[in-house]
Amino acid sequence: MSNQPVEDVFDAVAETAPEIRNTLVERVGFESEENPSGEEQIAADVFADRLLEERLLPIDGIGQYASEERDEIVSGGEGYGVAVDPVDGSSNIQTNNAAGTILGIYDADLPARGETLVGAACVLYGPRTTMIAADEESVTEYLLEDGDRKAVRENVTIPDEPDDHGVYGFGGRVPDWHEDFRAYARELEHELRLRYSGAMIGDINQVLTYGGIFAYPALQSSPQGKLRLQYEGNPIGYIAEAAGGRSSAGDRSILAVSADDVHQRVPVHIGTTEYVDRLETALD
Ligand code: F6P
Ligand code: MG
Repeated sequence: MSNQPVEDVFDAVAETAPEIRNTLVERVGFESEENPSGEEQIAADVFADRLLEERLLPIDGIGQYASEERDEIVSGGEGYGVAVDPVDGSSNIQTNNAAGTILGIYDADLPARGETLVGAACVLYGPRTTMIAADEESVTEYLLEDGDRKAVRENVTIPDEPDDHGVYGFGGRVPDWHEDFRAYARELEHELRLRYSGAMIGDINQVLTYGGIFAYPALQSSPQGKLRLQYEGNPIGYIAEAAGGRSSAGDRSILAVSADDVHQRVPVHIGTTEYVDRLETALD
């Protein structure tokens, strides 16, 4: 049985994606503000955030809206909490590379554990605009066109045994990685191809298609890494786990990490089960 507010959120994102895509073309300048994580905002971040709040919060069964681009959680009645990264990979816009939109729908007050997610989606603005959406039943890839979503891949599953096409991509500077993570990365150089795009969504779409692993690990300078739990780690972890893969914060599923702050960071390792299992052994 489909969950109506979750389906309505996916529809609203499909409707909004072409408008966000247009702003990526038209609004590439920087704003004078920084977002709550201390990153420079571009005008598209701010515009996409306002648009998504306007479209998602009024949906029946949605009660809260949180995003990377604002300090406070906005409340709008009873229902699920939606946490959004309106433009993921926004530093890629200047260089005309891939960007995305990510969101998680939580059956709990925000900030919330990933285990309370009832749906998650990520949009990729590449040559085509696509969305991978997971609910409690399945993971589907949609083509987004003219405000609608059309399924192009049903029951998305991460390949168990990546063949020659398997990929890995790890964020952060190599000297800033912990030694055991560096040793793990060296092992993978012999097994997988290096792909790192600067937008998590671009990298995750490759892992969901070819198998392998994406990570933004704990760094010596930042013990929780870079990516945010509510609107990056959890939604993507949920999609990967629903697609038969794994997510890990280093020692357990990202979805099991307790949430204290809407902007808190978490080490992210996501992909084919075998590679995430080996990562946890390497960090043990
Ligand atoms: O939202 C954060 C983000 O843009 C991710 O999409 C991406 O994986 C990462 O930051 C890139 O960070 P860096 O510029 O350090 O490689
Ligand atoms: Mg992001």
